[in-house]
Amino acid sequence: MKDPAIRIVLLPKDTNSHGNIFGGIILSYIDLSGIFTISRYSDQKIVTVAINEVIFKAPVHVGEIVSFYCSITKIGNTSISVHVDVEVEKNFESILVTQADLTYCSVGDNGKPVPLILKYQPSN
Ligand SMILES: CC(C)(COP(=O)(O)OP(=O)(O)OC[C@H]1O[C@@H](n2cnc3c(N)ncnc32)[C@H](O)[C@@H]1OP(=O)(O)O)[C@@H](O)C(=O)NCCC(=O)NCCS
Repeated sequence: MKDPAIRIVLLPKDTNSHGNIFGGIILSYIDLSGIFTISRYSDQKIVTVAINEVIFKAPVHVGEIVSFYCSITKIGNTSISVHVDVEVEKNFESILVTQADLTYCSVGDNGKPVPLILKYQPSN
C-alpha cells in the first residue's frame, strides 16, 4: 500500500458557505507535500518555481480525509520536480481530487539558484 506524503482532515474554517473546501487550501497542501517530499533528500533552502495547471475533478468536504501522494519526477541542476496526486476517501473508496506537477529550485542565501545537492537518490 502506498504512503501519502501528508494526510489531513480539513475544518469548517477552510470552506465556502456550501461546505466545500476552497481550492486554494488544497493548493497550499499540494505545495507543502512537495516540499516535505524534497526535504527528505535535501537540507538546502528550496523555493517553489512553478505549479502547473491544476484542475479539481471532485469536491472535498469538511471532515473528509485527504491524502497527498508524491513522487519525484525530474532532478535538474538546480531544480527538482514532484508529481502530486490528491485523493479523498469517500465510503471507503479513494477518489482522485486533482493532480499537480511542481518544480522547486535550490537557492543560496542571496536567493539565487545553486546546484541541488541530494543526500541520496530518490527510489521512485
Ligand atoms: C526560483 C528563482 C531563484 C529562479 O531564478 P531564475 O533566475 O529564474 O533561475 P533559472 O532561470 O536559472 O532557473 C533555475 C531552475 O529553475 C527552473 N525553472 C525556472 N523557471 C521554471 C518554470 N517556469 N518551470 C519549470 N522550471 C523552471 C530552471 O529550468 C532551472 O532548473 P535547472 O537548473 O535544474 O535547469 C527565482 O525565479 C525566484 O526567486 N522565484 C521566486 C521563488 C519563490 O519565492 N517562490 C515562492 C512564491 S511565494
